[in-house]
Amino acid sequence: MKIIYKFIFFILSNKILVCNCQNLKGYFEKYNRINLNQNDKINQLKCALECLKRGNCRMVKSKENTCSIRNEIVFVNKIQIFHTTLNNHSSEVRSLAVLQNGDLASGFKDSSIKIWNLENGSVKMTLNNHSSAIRSLAVLQNGDLASGSQDKTIKIWNLENGSVKMTLNNHSSGVSPLVVLQNGDLASGSWDKTIIIWNLDKGCVKMTLNNHSSEVQSLAVLQNGDLASGFKDSSIKIWNLENGSVKMTLNNHSSAIRSLAVLQNGDIASGSWDKTIKIWNLENGSVKMTLNNHSSGVSPLVVLQNGDLASGSWDKTIKIWNLENGCVKMTLNNHSIGVRSLARKNKKERDLKMHSAVDT
Ligand SMILES: *[C@@H]1O[C@H](CO)[C@@H](O)[C@H](O)[C@H]1NC(C)=O
Ligand SMILES: *[C@@H]1O[C@H](CO)[C@@H](O)[C@H](O)[C@H]1NC(C)=O
Ligand SMILES: *[C@@H]1O[C@H](CO)[C@@H](O)[C@H](O)[C@H]1NC(C)=O
Ligand SMILES: *[C@@H]1O[C@H](CO)[C@@H](O)[C@H](O)[C@H]1NC(C)=O
Ligand SMILES: *[C@@H]1O[C@H](CO)[C@@H](O)[C@H](O)[C@H]1NC(C)=O
Ligand SMILES: *[C@@H]1O[C@H](CO)[C@@H](O)[C@H](O)[C@H]1NC(C)=O
Ligand SMILES: *[C@@H]1O[C@H](CO)[C@@H](O)[C@H](O)[C@H]1NC(C)=O
Ligand SMILES: *[C@@H]1O[C@H](CO)[C@@H](O)[C@H](O)[C@H]1NC(C)=O
Ligand SMILES: *[C@@H]1O[C@H](CO)[C@@H](O)[C@H](O)[C@H]1NC(C)=O
Ligand SMILES: *[C@@H]1O[C@H](CO)[C@@H](O)[C@H](O)[C@H]1NC(C)=O
Ligand SMILES: *[C@@H]1O[C@H](CO)[C@@H](O)[C@H](O)[C@H]1NC(C)=O
Repeated sequence: MKIIYKFIFFILSNKILVCNCQNLKGYFEKYNRINLNQNDKINQLKCALECLKRGNCRMVKSKENTCSIRNEIVFVNKIQIFHTTLNNHSSEVRSLAVLQNGDLASGFKDSSIKIWNLENGSVKMTLNNHSSAIRSLAVLQNGDLASGSQDKTIKIWNLENGSVKMTLNNHSSGVSPLVVLQNGDLASGSWDKTIIIWNLDKGCVKMTLNNHSSEVQSLAVLQNGDLASGFKDSSIKIWNLENGSVKMTLNNHSSAIRSLAVLQNGDIASGSWDKTIKIWNLENGSVKMTLNNHSSGVSPLVVLQNGDLASGSWDKTIKIWNLENGCVKMTLNNHSIGVRSLARKNKKERDLKMHSAVDT
């Protein structure tokens, strides 16, 4: 099986594009009618592409820049999607994370982790010390990468030389989701049905959360700092991290909770193997909305910079949802197999960029 990532850039432009260039269509209509020489045409094209690339730019008229001379505001209402395929591996991608420097890290079924240079798609570094599949990756507050593996351990990596800084060892079964709490602690969920909060200074267990009958498949940190966890038995629990008790149990899915994401308004969204996504009211544990358009299990969820929710599914699509009315805004359909993992690019980036990993 050949493994592929699609690196998807969303140049999101339902915001206003302020630009002295005309939009491309009008642009070419105009300049194809005018008898420009070839060089001028190429310059105009470069200028227009630069405008589009920047998304929200103000091109200034200058001697070097022969950009079209109109002070127009152009409203562009479309989304451009570019794909780059990173392909340097013979194993399945199981997890993705975006490092603080913008590099992409990916964890594989064959137990290796690769750090990619996204400028040219080359592999910067390969991390090898786990003895089984990598199931999750998380970036700590200090920028270190943490990896959770089926080999029951979590490793913290030194990304300068690829060595292991620390191995966290207390789960009695495979480690599944990882999240970083607001205070910087790392939380890990496991097939052993527990969640462990780790003390990363000492490399030992700070607290074990244990109230369930089922594997932990997803974790998320709420805006108030509480930890939410989703289980194979279809329940979601919100934890009190002061004393490790369960604050609330959310029950309405009919199959495993594969992913949790916190929306910009603080609501929690859950993606389930029952093919739906639910948005929950955390005041009383009721369902606010059920998003229903995937034809197979929902796996990763990611909140985009504009607040939209994106979901990847085993139905091979990524969907972007309108959370006002619960309708699908867009379906991205360029994968030939289920979407396993999604990661959002850096908050600081103006463009929305999303990575998705798939097998082909
Ligand atoms: C894959 O990555 C390795 C380094 O990990 C490199 O030596 C090799 O040339 C790469 N192959 C391709 C096709 O990029
Ligand atoms: C990719 O870019 C990096 C840094 O810019 C460079 O060190 C590396 O040689 C490049 N790799 C390839 C395959 O072009
Ligand atoms: C991980 O690293 C340690 C220390 O270098 C080494 O003893 C061990 O064999 C390595 N394990 C694997 C699976 O590579
Ligand atoms: C990697 O770097 C760290 C700190 O910079 C150092 O302590 C460690 O010995 C290095 N490991 C290897 C294998 O070079
Ligand atoms: C986890 O840590 C506790 C307390 O230190 C210890 O009793 C237990 O055996 C450990 N479990 C595993 C699986 O390492
Ligand atoms: C699990 O949490 C519920 C609700 O807080 C509580 O009633 C129950 O005793 C807990 N069970 C265990 C095994 O901790
Ligand atoms: C944990 O703390 C919460 C709030 O502080 C309290 O309501 C709850 O009863 C406590 N649970 C246990 C088991 O101590
Ligand atoms: C979810 O909630 C709806 C509305 O309250 C209810 O009709 C349905 O049976 C619930 N489904 C499950 C699986 O709990
Ligand atoms: C939960 O609260 C919301 C708004 O606060 C309300 O609309 C809804 O009816 C409540 N649901 C239940 C089951 O109490
Ligand atoms: C998703 O929505 C589209 C457009 O409304 C509809 O044609 C399609 O049947 C829906 N698919 C599923 C699986 O609900
Ligand atoms: C998927 O993307 C690739 C690269 O951009 C493109 O060549 C191919 O036609 C696309 N396939 C579909 C089904 O859209």
